[in-house]
Order: sequence, then C-alpha cells, then structure tokens
Amino acid sequence: MDIVIVKNYIEMSKYAAGLVGDCIRENDQPVLGLATGGTPVGMYQLLVRQYRAGLLSFKNVRTFNLDEYIGLDPAHSKSYHRYMQEHLFSHVDIPRDQTFIPDGMAGNLQKECRHYEKLLKKFGPPDLQILGIGENGHIGFNEPGSDFDGPTHVIRLADSTREANARYFQSPDEVPSHAITMGVKSILRSKKIVLLASGERKAAAVKRLLEGKPDPDFPASALSHHQHVILIADKKAFGE
Ligand code: F6R
Repeated sequence: MDIVIVKNYIEMSKYAAGLVGDCIRENDQPVLGLATGGTPVGMYQLLVRQYRAGLLSFKNVRTFNLDEYIGLDPAHSKSYHRYMQEHLFSHVDIPRDQTFIPDGMAGNLQKECRHYEKLLKKFGPPDLQILGIGENGHIGFNEPGSDFDGPTHVIRLADSTREANARYFQSPDEVPSHAITMGVKSILRSKKIVLLASGERKAAAVKRLLEGKPDPDFPASALSHHQHVILIADKKAFGE
C-alpha cells in the first residue's frame, strides 16, 4: 500500500482529484468506482471545477457507485442517487446512462444485486476505485464480519454506521437499516484503489488498517490483498 500523508482535508481532496483527473485523461473509456459520504465531497468539488475550466471531460466516463440505501427513492434528499446528482453528475457532461448506482427501491433486491454485478463485469472493472473508510473499518457498506469473497449484496447496516450517518438525516430513526453494497470481492477487482481518510474520527481505523492483518472483523484490511492501493490520509486521520 502506498501511503500519502497530507496536511488537511483540502490537500487530500486535491490529491484525490488529481488522481481521478489523470485516470480520466489516460483512458479512452475510463471507468470510475465512486463513493459518497462526507469524505469525497471536496474531491467532487474540485473535479467540477476542473470540468468548468475545460480541463476535464466526463463524456466517455462510466461510473459505478459503491452503495445505496434500501428504501430511499432516487429523488430522496439523502439517497446516494441524489448525492451524486448534487455533487457531480448534474455539474458535468457525463451521459446519465453511463452512471450506475444500485437501485435501493428494486422490487427484487437479490436480482438487483446480480444485475449490478453483471454490469460491473460488462463495463468494469473500475480503472480507479475511490473509497472512504467507516470508523468500524467498513468499505462500501461491507460491515465487520463481511465475506471477503462476496459480490454485490444486501447488508444490514451496523448500529455504529447508522449512528455515524445519523448526522446526515433529521433523526437517527430515519437512517435506513439496510443497503445494497458492492462486495469486497467486487471492490478488489478494481485496477487501482484510492482510500481517503480525513479527521480524527478516522484515526483509529487508519491505525488498525496499517497495523493489522486481513481480518473480516475489519473489512478495510482486505485491501492488503490488492496490488495497487493508495491511502491518502490527512494528518489528523494519521494522528495515532
Ligand atoms: C459511501 C461508503 C462508505 C463511506 C464511509 C465513510 O459510499 O461506501 O463506506 O465511505 O462510511 O463515510 P464518511 O465519508 O461520511 O465518513
């Protein structure tokens, strides 16, 4: 794993946006694996800025998001569909049919998982996968105990994840209990993985990631099975 320690959130975002920009410029038909949450917001802002400055086009880019809550309509203000519209898609020239996010409203969720995995195999694997990390070590929504060999699947969110994400909702009860997530196996198929971590809240997880051996109780540790991972952490996340 390559480790890049940067001063703060802005520097982390710049570094990550630089890698995404390079990936888009270097590939004729780039495939990006994307994350949501607080961590990549600054990176998306910088990518939109590069697009507006004419330095980047998303016309030939395909994107696959890691996850989506079950039971939230794409138009719901807290859905990851909406997040991606607000932070990236509606600001750049990416054709909508080149953006993929699991459908958390699908009538048959198992079928939706299989369908998503098929799409990933057809168009993927991502040239570059962006990941955040949960305080409990989750990647995507692969919670502790997840199978390292698992494909896209339905997951019950850990109580600690629901608590951590309650800050995005009006009340903790509103946080959905389940999600669809790309599996650890689907994530590890990506050619390159960029893991972002910012702030003290992530320090214990970063420490465990760097010290630990692969352990299903700490899903991010599966990344040690991958040949090309770059961890970009700011000083606070690297603190311990
Ligand atoms: C989001 C995702 C999650 C987040 C993680 C960190 O698509 O897959 O793994 O990356 O929960 O979230 P933030 O960035 O809000 O701390």
